[in-house]
Amino acid sequence: MGPTQTFLSRTCLIPQLTMPPRVAFVTGAAQGIGEAIALRLASDSEDICIVILDVPEKELQMDSVVKKIQEKGKKAFYVAGDVSVEEQVKNAVDRCVEVFGGLDIMVANAGIPLFKSFIDCTAEDFHRVLNVNLLGVVFCYQYAAKQMIKQGRGGRIIGACSGAGKQGVFDMAFYSASKAGVRGLTQSVALELRPHNITVNAYAPGVILTAMSTHPDDDKHGGPGSVAKMAAKLPADTPAAEPEVIAEMVAYLVSPKAYFTTGQTICVNGGRYCD
Ligand SMILES: NC(=O)c1ccc[n+]([C@@H]2O[C@H](COP(=O)([O-])OP(=O)(O)OC[C@H]3O[C@@H](n4cnc5c(N)ncnc54)[C@H](O)[C@@H]3O)[C@@H](O)[C@H]2O)c1
Repeated sequence: MGPTQTFLSRTCLIPQLTMPPRVAFVTGAAQGIGEAIALRLASDSEDICIVILDVPEKELQMDSVVKKIQEKGKKAFYVAGDVSVEEQVKNAVDRCVEVFGGLDIMVANAGIPLFKSFIDCTAEDFHRVLNVNLLGVVFCYQYAAKQMIKQGRGGRIIGACSGAGKQGVFDMAFYSASKAGVRGLTQSVALELRPHNITVNAYAPGVILTAMSTHPDDDKHGGPGSVAKMAAKLPADTPAAEPEVIAEMVAYLVSPKAYFTTGQTICVNGGRYCD
């Protein structure tokens, strides 16, 4: 193989952005990890526009997140929608492209928990959890990928997995199954999108202190996250952190220097689980 062939094969294998990312779309961003990611993206980039999507019940919270982004001097708007409804994801991505001219970063973060004994779980529970946590991620990955391929300038796709997607958690069978699905999806989609310079990764948080993991009785049981830890039969000293630790990982994954990281589901968990 001559030097030219070596160069060509290298450039084909390494997904690089052809320009800095300009437009980001973050789901489940009315609060928690999604909000932290949206605000971090707004702080990091000189020139970025951000669309956030969450359920219609959270319009006031979304409005407040949009205002925080705008206070950082960046353009933003919100879309009220449900990630498990294909048409709503498609319309939201179309609107993002119409208003901001494209899409460079998709963060499919929206998710719901379910603490329930497997024996008591119903088919309805299964569809509810899998529809949001896995099918919702499928739709976000798919419509983002179609747009990014059309643009031809690469891109970054990121999904929300969980430690529960790598190691089953007590009383969280359907949640664990949905998150394990995100991991497999991310690996396969990354292989398919590699020739388009689109990286596809997921984050697998440990205990992150958001509405999902906090409870009014936490103070009686040892502090923030303690009730969720008890429910999942995790040791009381399991590390817990603020959502900004996930935003930090996403900030890296969307940066041009992360071009060689794709297909990975990265634990951000203070060492709770190591793979
Ligand atoms: N907090 C943790 O300890 C933890 C741990 C592991 C993984 N995660 C994952 O991280 C992601 C964010 O979690 P969080 O802790 O910020 O939770 P959160 O409950 O604070 O926020 C999740 C957001 O997703 C939105 N959402 C739910 N269903 C939706 C739907 N169908 N369509 C659109 N939006 C929807 C909610 O309204 C909410 O605003 C989730 O996927 C979650 O499973 C969280």
